[in-house]
Parts: sequence; structure tokens; C-alpha cells
Amino acid sequence: MGGGIERGCWCVVIFCALVSGATMYDDECDLYQGSWVYDESYPMYDSSKCPPIRKEYDCVKYGRPDLNYLKFRWQPTNCNLPSFNAEEFLRKMTGKKIMFIGDSVSVNQWQSMVCLLHGSLPPQSIITEDTINSTTTVTFEDYGVSISVFLSHYLVDIVEEDIGRVLKLDSITNGDVWKDNDVLIFNTWLWWYRRGEKQPWDYIQIGTKITKDMDRMVAFEGALKTWANWVDSDIDTEKTTLFFQGVSPSHYNGSDWNKTGVTNCAKETVPMDGSTYPGGVPMAEMVVEQVLSGIMKPVSLLNITRLSQLRKDAHPSSFNAYKGMDCTHWCLAGLPDTWNLLLYAALV
Ligand SMILES: *[C@@H]1O[C@H](CO)[C@@H](O)[C@H](O)[C@H]1NC(C)=O
Ligand SMILES: *[C@@H]1O[C@H](CO)[C@@H](O)[C@H](O)[C@H]1NC(C)=O
Ligand SMILES: *[C@@H]1O[C@H](CO)[C@@H](O)[C@H](O)[C@H]1NC(C)=O
Ligand SMILES: *[C@@H]1O[C@H](CO)[C@@H](O)[C@H](O)[C@H]1NC(C)=O
Repeated sequence: MGGGIERGCWCVVIFCALVSGATMYDDECDLYQGSWVYDESYPMYDSSKCPPIRKEYDCVKYGRPDLNYLKFRWQPTNCNLPSFNAEEFLRKMTGKKIMFIGDSVSVNQWQSMVCLLHGSLPPQSIITEDTINSTTTVTFEDYGVSISVFLSHYLVDIVEEDIGRVLKLDSITNGDVWKDNDVLIFNTWLWWYRRGEKQPWDYIQIGTKITKDMDRMVAFEGALKTWANWVDSDIDTEKTTLFFQGVSPSHYNGSDWNKTGVTNCAKETVPMDGSTYPGGVPMAEMVVEQVLSGIMKPVSLLNITRLSQLRKDAHPSSFNAYKGMDCTHWCLAGLPDTWNLLLYAALV
């Protein structure tokens, strides 16, 4: 019995050390526990002045009439988030390469980071952008800092074979490109339940077994475990700092925020009050946290799920170039700026 309790304690200690690394730098304070407060000084940049924002995220340009959503700052309960200082960040990161890897939610965060840096540097700063294969890189030449995004919907591979496109849950061949960076921020979730025309594969393969389909949550977990094994075998954490981004929530089911019957975010103009979200923790987020807890190497969870759930007002809804209802991505300026403040707090 005693042994069991002891083991339990160790599990808690190791779990915290491995998973909550991002919150560890200050023992007293969980930066992810808090609420949204109105702040007249927000937003942190003028989106019309940053490099072109993807048509999906540029809500003001596409006519969003209510601008209140730009004015909310994340306030942790027991401390303050450090404010973003672009020059300090770039000085600290001099010569380093930072890469976001994942789906369009990663692109969302990458664009936010580029805007945050761009918006507060002197106009004569030299900033270049180029795209090679799946990677787009913005380089802040005065500091030799590059910020890239590598688009990968599933992290694991999709390979064209004779039978069709095969999603290979056991295989990560892009890892060699990724590990050449100093900071990696991973994310995948959005595409795992896509079907029909939006499903970019025809078969799933695990080991030698090939199947037409399977339980998508099990597939997701399998891919995350492949990723976790890759981290343990291939990443030198003395050189490379690792983050995994928690699940970014969408807002299509009003029951999640106490508005039963509502089916999108179109009428949402304010965040939820307080810190609790009726919808609870998404199953996918539990899977992420569980897989991360099994990794030997230090990986920090950017635990953005709850604070993002509270921001039912922060999606583009119909204010994007495509006019479709988008309650999945996030307006820029907006919520992803806070994700980057949390990343900044962990790095600087
Ligand atoms: C781009 O992809 C091609 C085909 O996979 C590869 O041969 C080439 O080396 C890649 N380029 C770079 C710069 O990685
Ligand atoms: C919305 O969530 C509620 C509560 O979890 C669930 O009962 C309901 O089926 C969901 N509605 C839709 C359309 O998925
Ligand atoms: C949601 O509704 C329930 C039941 O009416 C209530 O107890 C709870 O406080 C509400 N939560 C929020 C965040 O408004
Ligand atoms: C992530 O945040 C949620 C909500 O604040 C919390 O319940 C959960 O324990 C956190 N997860 C980790 C691994 O810190």
C-alpha cells in the first residue's frame, strides 16, 4: 500500500515536471488559471500594418463590426503575464530558429507571432520571408532569428501509393526538417474527424495493417504516440526546446457555453465571465495530456484549451474572405496573441 502511494506521488511530480514545464518557472502561479479582463490598451498591434494576414483571420478587413473582442487581456488569478517586448525576445533568441508545426491553427499562431514582432520593431528593420516546400519562414535579419511554420495536418505521414493516399500512423518522415530548429511548437487535432471531400487520405495504416477507416480518437492517439516516440528517440533537448499546444476549441455547440440550441459563434461578442466552461475538457485534450505524460524528455504543454474555450467571441464567424461560418480559427489581432504571450513567458 505504502509503495502505491509513494509511486502515486512520484507520478504527480514527474507529470508536473514533464507536462507543465511552461508553468514551472514560477511555482506560485499557474498562468493558465485565470479570466479575461477588459483592457483599453489592447490589441497589441494594428493588424492592417502587419505582413499580409491570411484571408481566414483578417476579421477587421472583412468587415467585423464589433471590435470589443480586441480589448480583452488574459489575467492569471495569482500573478500577471509578462508583457510582450519584441526586442527583448529577439535579443534572447539571437541566432535561433523557431518553428510552429501543425495545421492551420499553427499558421494562426505563427502569423500572430510575426505580427507581434513586426509591430514593435523600428521601420528600418530587415525582415524577409520565403517558402520552401512545406515551410514558410520569416527572418528578423538584424537578430538572425527565424520564425517558421511547417504545415502538417496530422504530424504523421500521408503517402501516395498504388491503392491511394495512405495515412501512416506509425511514420514521421518530416522529423529531420523539424529537429534542425531550436524551439518547436507542435499541434494537431483539427483534421482528425474530417470525412468525405475534406478527408485528404483514402486508407489508414498502422504497422502492416491497412484499413479503410477506424475510430478517429484511437487514430489520433496512435499518431501522438508515434510523435512521442520520435521525441524520445530523435530530439536532443539540450539543443531543442519542445512545446505541444493543447487543443484549440471550436464553438459550434451552444450547450458548451450555456446557450442550448445555438449552433455557431455568429452572435458572440463577449468572452465568458470567470474561469469555468460548462462544456468541460474536450476528450482530445485529455488524450494529449495523457500521451505527453508518457514522454521521457521534457515537453511543455501550452495549455491554451480552457482560456480559449472562454473566447467564443474571438472567431472570425462570417468575417473572412470566404464568407463561410468559421468558429474554428481565430481573428488576428486576437486570441493567438495571448498564446504567444504564454510562449514568450516560457522562453524569455
Ligand atoms: C524540397 O522537397 C524536395 C522533394 O521532397 C527535396 O528533394 C528538396 O531537398 C526539398 N528542399 C529543401 C530545401 O529541403
Ligand atoms: C451539444 O452538446 C450537448 C451536450 O454535450 C449534446 O447533448 C448535443 O448532442 C450536442 N449537439 C450537437 C448538435 O452536437
Ligand atoms: C450555466 O448554467 C448552469 C445552470 O443554469 C449554471 O449553474 C452555471 O453557473 C452556468 N455557467 C455559466 C458559466 O454561466
Ligand atoms: C490545463 O489547464 C486545465 C484548465 O485550467 C487544467 O484543468 C489542467 O490540469 C491543465 N493541464 C495540465 C497538464 O497542466
